[in-house]
Amino acid sequence: MTITASFPRRARSRAALTALLLAAATLGSGPPVKRVPEEIQLSSLDLSKMRVAQVGGRNATPSVAQANKAIDGTNLIRIGGEQFATGVGTRSPSMLFVHLGGGSERFLALVGVDNNPLPEPPPPAAGQQPRRVQPPGTQIFRVLGDGKVLYQSNPLGRGEAPVLVNVDVTGIQTLVLQVKPAEGQRGGAANWAEATFTTGGARPQAIDIPVEPRTILTPKPGPAPRINGPSLTGVTPGHDVLYKIPVTGTRPISYSVEGLPKGLKLDRKAGVITGRIAERGRYPVVFKAKNKAGEATKQFTFVAEGLLSLTPALGWNSWNVYGRAISDSLARVAADAMVAKGLIDHGWTYINLDDGWERTKREGDPLNEGPVRAEDGTMIVNKKFPDMKGLGDYIHGKGLKFGIYTGPGPTTCQGLEASWQHEVQDFQTFANWGVDYIKYDWCGYSSVLKPGETTQQLPVLKRPYQDGRKALDQVARDIIYSLCQYGWGNVWEWGNDPDIRGNSWRTTGDITDTWESMNGIGFRQVGYSKFAGPGHWNDPDMLVIGKVGWGPRLRDTGLTPNEQYVHITLWTLLASPLLLGNDMAQMDDFELNLVTNDEVLAVHQDELGKAADRVAKNGELEVWARPLQDGSLAVGLFNRDEMDTKVTVQWAELGITGKQTVRDLWRQQDLGQFENEFSSTVPRHGTVFVKISPVK
Ligand code: GAL
Repeated sequence: MTITASFPRRARSRAALTALLLAAATLGSGPPVKRVPEEIQLSSLDLSKMRVAQVGGRNATPSVAQANKAIDGTNLIRIGGEQFATGVGTRSPSMLFVHLGGGSERFLALVGVDNNPLPEPPPPAAGQQPRRVQPPGTQIFRVLGDGKVLYQSNPLGRGEAPVLVNVDVTGIQTLVLQVKPAEGQRGGAANWAEATFTTGGARPQAIDIPVEPRTILTPKPGPAPRINGPSLTGVTPGHDVLYKIPVTGTRPISYSVEGLPKGLKLDRKAGVITGRIAERGRYPVVFKAKNKAGEATKQFTFVAEGLLSLTPALGWNSWNVYGRAISDSLARVAADAMVAKGLIDHGWTYINLDDGWERTKREGDPLNEGPVRAEDGTMIVNKKFPDMKGLGDYIHGKGLKFGIYTGPGPTTCQGLEASWQHEVQDFQTFANWGVDYIKYDWCGYSSVLKPGETTQQLPVLKRPYQDGRKALDQVARDIIYSLCQYGWGNVWEWGNDPDIRGNSWRTTGDITDTWESMNGIGFRQVGYSKFAGPGHWNDPDMLVIGKVGWGPRLRDTGLTPNEQYVHITLWTLLASPLLLGNDMAQMDDFELNLVTNDEVLAVHQDELGKAADRVAKNGELEVWARPLQDGSLAVGLFNRDEMDTKVTVQWAELGITGKQTVRDLWRQQDLGQFENEFSSTVPRHGTVFVKISPVK
């Protein structure tokens, strides 16, 4: 049924082929048709249904696929040296679902990367260099029918001649036309020229990309107490400790701790431990939680050895939801919601302010409110934050922790005041406010490089983070040091150097709430697992589930339900800090289920502290595995393709042998015992997340 060969053809020969095929169909060869087949142009379908990669940032006018024009809406379609009067211009990655209903026999098109002149770059902002528009990389054109690949081109480059797609679609109900960048390539303008369906029955109809229901896979926790969270926490001798024992179950719960080290005390009603441990050492304790439905215990260790973040952080950060609009009241709403929604009972802890709490000297900026620092150099916060210490106390009062954002440059990414030449002073100010977490963002540091210095030089890249570490070591408070410089200079290779000791480092640029962004970043983390470990984690950026917005107006994430399962599963496997970037107060049962599955979170918080890496890849199907403390493996089967597909993982790929118990972590259900391999059908853009343990 498939004609897979792709070979360049001139448009004229394709037209001749169409005529022949039509003639053949008319003469009655092939399956019986209800009426004389006609040629229906792809460009006559409702092209608003075609997914088109967007350019120009969040505020740009969205691009839509173009009938009989290139995606720029002006030029004719051009592939290689040829120009076409008909067809569809799109931008890769791109996708269209077409309902054929068994009414069509053939799909024909000439495909290739658009070869019109590149668009003019947007005018540069004041003082900035003009940006160059990058040409598209090589693109793959695919035609899928009812879950099977009917056609796939080789990677096609800009300037290459058009390639004929000639696919028998007899009997196909749903056809997918997809263009995607080849591995590691940029997207860009791409064309389905002279694309037609030969149709004798139902007319082809463009349809919405089907979205699965928001299925809640996880059973709710029972009424008896269950103690969640990590099995250890790292603190520094002599520094303030705050640890909230996360417990689910019917309230009220009374807490107790056996073997609590000297200097710490427990609030029995709140389950919050505070105080200081004077002596260096490891302090094993037993947590107990009791309510009218039962009692739970958990072994736990306070590791007072000065290393923080022995498991990756769980929390919230303001950026992906509010952007610059973050305020004291919104931060308090977040803290309230983390408690009210029960997230705190599953180990969620940090309430982190991102950019937007500082002032600026920049004219015309609403946050220019006079001096950015007091006479003694102390930073002055903007009017949205009347009392930072008060905010810190409020957050701590709930058993949560407080994070803040600054950078080593004179200004932040938003042009607001940052910590250049005030590092020790600012970090001390933060400590006075009760800050427990600093995100330290490069951004403005580029402006203070000396002549001859560039971001290609490793010593230059390291310097601000070494200076930051020196400053932080002078502050007598446990503060997580989160490096943000977008992965430059392979930061994962040196972010844990003795003179930097980052607790995490961003491995990528900024995430956004699209499948392309999230899955592109997530599945690019291949080979990084060896750089992560207790106290130092890879950070592929914050979460984009729920209501996001990067500003005052919020909207639902652009990720589908299955894509959201992929997001949480993959980030859990990667042992990335999990920082929610949505309005927690508006989280519904589906979203809460995504982030409160205690078996999934137990993988994230696993004491061994090993991150997952990719163990198998077959086209768009991938398997990632993470070894756990108890000798089992957390394994994610992922399907990045456009149709449900069976994914198999071999024991050999996992480095295990013999009988294994496989447990579905999202459903919290054993699937049985398996030998040699495990397979499961994995939905389009979806995942199956299992724990594989040797049978005892
Ligand atoms: C970017 C950073 C984002 C966010 C933003 C704030 O550089 O990657 O996560 O912090 O700055 O301006």
